[in-house]
Amino acid sequence: MENKKEEKDLVKALIMVSRSIVYVSLIVVACILLLFVSFFTNETTASAAKPIVAAASTHTVLAENTSRPIPAGAWKAPDTSTIPAGKAGEMIRYGRSLLAHTSNYFGPNGSIAHITNGMNCQNCHLDGGGKLFGNNYGNFIASYPKMSARSGKVEPASERIAECFERSLAGEVPDTSKKEIKAMLAYMQWIGKGVKKSQKLIGSSTEKLPFMDQAADPAKGKAVFVSKCQSCHGANGEGKLTADKRSYTYPPLWGKHSYNDGAGMYRIGNFAGFVKNNMPYGATYQNPQLTDEEAWNVAAFVNSQPRLHRDQHKDWKDLKSKPIDFPFGPYLDAFSEKQHKYGPFKPIKNAQKELAIKK
Ligand code: HEC
Ligand code: HEC
Repeated sequence: MENKKEEKDLVKALIMVSRSIVYVSLIVVACILLLFVSFFTNETTASAAKPIVAAASTHTVLAENTSRPIPAGAWKAPDTSTIPAGKAGEMIRYGRSLLAHTSNYFGPNGSIAHITNGMNCQNCHLDGGGKLFGNNYGNFIASYPKMSARSGKVEPASERIAECFERSLAGEVPDTSKKEIKAMLAYMQWIGKGVKKSQKLIGSSTEKLPFMDQAADPAKGKAVFVSKCQSCHGANGEGKLTADKRSYTYPPLWGKHSYNDGAGMYRIGNFAGFVKNNMPYGATYQNPQLTDEEAWNVAAFVNSQPRLHRDQHKDWKDLKSKPIDFPFGPYLDAFSEKQHKYGPFKPIKNAQKELAIKK
């Protein structure tokens, strides 16, 4: 009897033990399953998150202005080694030299005449007029003769060259019956070969920077000038002459040897777009060194400094075509010369749109 009871107890105990084993193993299996599920869900969220993180860091790089890829289809100047030999090539080479060393020929100590301020065309039309977003001549010849909104008439290419002599070089036009203007045209024709009339070239003038909400600030621009420009261009924007005093190693930014107030550079949109892509010297579209705000502000500072005045009452007779940042009235809108010079430009743009709708 005793034995039978003991047997029963043993069976009971065995059943309990095996039950607990089953429970425990069920729990273990459930845990393993849970771990698996959570591992895979983690994995998928992590891999989905990766590109977002990467995209965000690309944008930070752009905002810091350390690199921008060259836009697809951007124009590229031909190599100077492809300038032909012979008479035609000689004219092209002479033209290139005149544009790069204009002052040696026409400056205050020039070899041909003394009719300009001492600057070179190349000071603003960089790398022989071949640089992307550096005022290049890529589509110049192809687009002329052209209706000039500034003069109100159709101009031949030679007339456009003359304008930069009178405004950017604050001087006189060389005798057009001599070969110098023809040589400049021959070079410009060569550098723009293959470009079609009305073809839109990326990077052929200066970059149009987006308007700021506020006006450009000459005082903030002065701080940019002192820290990033004056080491080359001089504390008074006077530039630095070469040892033989025939031209500038660093061209002036204001004063009587700089461009006059009828020049394209006197409009702060042109100036800001130029320095954003080219200054301090060595900066490029791919590697700008200034933020947009610094570019606008330094443009405002430099163009608030003294320079020669040109009578421009005959320019932009058709007020509809007057550029928004042209600082001399009259205007179609009611904004001041000051606001047209420094901005803010967005309210002017909006007012001009309204006027266009009403007309
Ligand atoms: C390392 C020297 C250097 C620094 C710094 C420098 N530049 Fe220049 N800059 C030059 C040179 C050289 C040229 C002429 C380029 C040529 O002829 O190829 C030039 C040309 C210019 C021109 C066109 C010609 C003129 O004189 O009007 C402007 C405008 C200009 N720089 C503005 C600036 C501004 C604004 C800064 C500061 C943000 C700056 N530069 C910083 C060397 C410098
Ligand atoms: C102080 C800077 C500066 C200098 C120096 C300068 N230019 Fe210019 N030039 C500009 C700017 C900015 C523009 C474009 C904006 C405008 O239309 O006014 C321009 C426009 C031109 C154009 C028209 C380009 C086109 O595609 O329509 C030609 C051609 C030209 N310049 C030739 C010259 C020649 C030749 C010289 C020397 C005799 C010269 N420039 C000196 C700043 C300069």
